[in-house]
Amino acid sequence: MMKAVYMERHGGPEVLRLGELPDPVASAGQIVVDIHAASINGADWKVRDGSAYATISTFPYILGRDFSGVVSAIGPGVTDYRVGDAVLGVCDVGQEGTYCEKIAMKAAICARKPEGVSHVDAAALALIGLTALVSVEDTLKLQKGETILIHGGAGGVAGFAIELAKHIGARVITTASAANHDYTRKLGADEVIDYRTQDFTKVVSDVDCVFDTVGGEVTQKSFQVLKPGGRAAFIASGAKAPVPAARSDVVSLRPAVGRDRHHLERIMQLHSVGAVHVPEVTLYDLKDAQEAHKVSQSRHLRGKLVFKVR
Ligand SMILES: NC(=O)c1ccc[n+]([C@@H]2O[C@H](COP(=O)([O-])OP(=O)(O)OC[C@H]3O[C@@H](n4cnc5c(N)ncnc54)[C@H](OP(=O)(O)O)[C@@H]3O)[C@@H](O)[C@H]2O)c1
Repeated sequence: MMKAVYMERHGGPEVLRLGELPDPVASAGQIVVDIHAASINGADWKVRDGSAYATISTFPYILGRDFSGVVSAIGPGVTDYRVGDAVLGVCDVGQEGTYCEKIAMKAAICARKPEGVSHVDAAALALIGLTALVSVEDTLKLQKGETILIHGGAGGVAGFAIELAKHIGARVITTASAANHDYTRKLGADEVIDYRTQDFTKVVSDVDCVFDTVGGEVTQKSFQVLKPGGRAAFIASGAKAPVPAARSDVVSLRPAVGRDRHHLERIMQLHSVGAVHVPEVTLYDLKDAQEAHKVSQSRHLRGKLVFKVR
């Protein structure tokens, strides 16, 4: 049996329980990974309370989408990993279950963890890095010399996106509360707007791209600040379809954040050359999952929340 944080129904943070569940078994093409660290993502509390994404029908249910750990079993047909290899991964679309000690995962979408990167750091970077890469590079196709407005710069995905956009050679404007201005400037933001005291639509105009990780009214207002032909990408809602554009001369995009080894390797490569850094990390034990979810759901955390499992 393994330790796991699981829920028996949708609800508030109080539905998260620490208990024991059966160990997973690797089926064909899978590896079992002994999880050392798993991160808490903005999506997790929305799945927990049922406010976004599909309703869960099979309980007990383990949340969590990304992890770093060590391979402890190999399923039939897996030739690229051996027991003892250190790997990081993001669960396949439709799969979750990293708030625990073990997970069975499709081997083809895991990547080797470099020796110089800790499990906590790898887990912190996995899904935020994947989401930012797919959004900024693959979807918005941000170019050197362009200007991008990134909403919610102190968050995990947006923070990675700021560093990535600077690496590409773009000019970056971001939004954050005053307490996070130094943090977002250190990430590389050229201009930081305090969204609590300033309306970004009054001080930003004609940007090439918007990347919105905040949602709500920020999404609708974002169309106003694009130049004609501008591109906007939105990830805060669980919806798969793009937000309808409020103007006909701009493009609204919903990044399709698939899972693959290549993007994870690219995250580790960008990290190894210093183009991106591990965000500020707050560590939790699995037993403190309810508290971690309260912080995540408050939507004012800085960087990443990570479970240190081992
Ligand atoms: N595959 C996907 O599509 C995918 C993957 C990952 C995440 N997501 C989504 O992406 C979003 C971001 O996730 P995350 O984990 O990176 O961060 P998060 O925890 O959802 O966001 C936290 C940050 O948002 C900032 N914030 C809150 N309200 C704001 C506002 N009105 N304007 C500007 N900033 C604001 C806070 O900064 P202050 O304290 O300074 O306010 C805080 O640093 C979530 O909605 C998540 O569900 C989607």
